[in-house]
Amino acid sequence: MRLRGPGRILRLDYMTLQGDVPPVMTPEEALDRMHEFTASDALRKHMYCVELAMRAYARKSGADEDAWATVGLLHDYDYERFPNDARSATQEHPAHGVGLLRDGGYPEEFCEAIMGHAQYTGVARSTAVAKTLFAVDELCGFLVACALVRPSRSLQDLTVKSVKKKLKDKGFARGVNREEVLQGAEELGVPLEEHIQFVMEALRPEETKLGLGSD
Ligand SMILES: [Fe+2]
Repeated sequence: MRLRGPGRILRLDYMTLQGDVPPVMTPEEALDRMHEFTASDALRKHMYCVELAMRAYARKSGADEDAWATVGLLHDYDYERFPNDARSATQEHPAHGVGLLRDGGYPEEFCEAIMGHAQYTGVARSTAVAKTLFAVDELCGFLVACALVRPSRSLQDLTVKSVKKKLKDKGFARGVNREEVLQGAEELGVPLEEHIQFVMEALRPEETKLGLGSD
């Protein structure tokens, strides 16, 4: 077989010859990239958290778990360096980080999902991965906040009822956008209670990695 033409064609030929599509980025590579850009322990933990939720939803829907995990690990990876106080749609977080990922060949579907999780980019969430990222992002932060105020500092004994009650308490975890939590579940097409339960169960086995419970 003669391999010629632009890189794109060579790549397709390579994939055909191998019979399998090589991953554009593995979870390990995504983790390395995220750590390279993010020194904050809290922000790192937030991305571990979203990774766990993305993995769980991928498993549930039969999507590629590792691929969705990279979206969770990378969705805020540029935030520390490019925080975007002006909420620019085209500069800083997440546009800057996505631009770098796109240049590296990261799939467009995932680039759009990361863009779409920041409402101010105006990028539509048209795919399951985009809807899922938006739905789990704020909720992850909220569940961790709920766990941290419990005597156990754990998700193990946190209930959906308690989470819903705290969502209504505007003075609690003020940084979490309640509208986005509700909108996320709605866009995903999952009842809020079910969504909260599902994400909590996804996080529980790994909670020490998130700084929760006891280790
Ligand atoms: Fe996030």
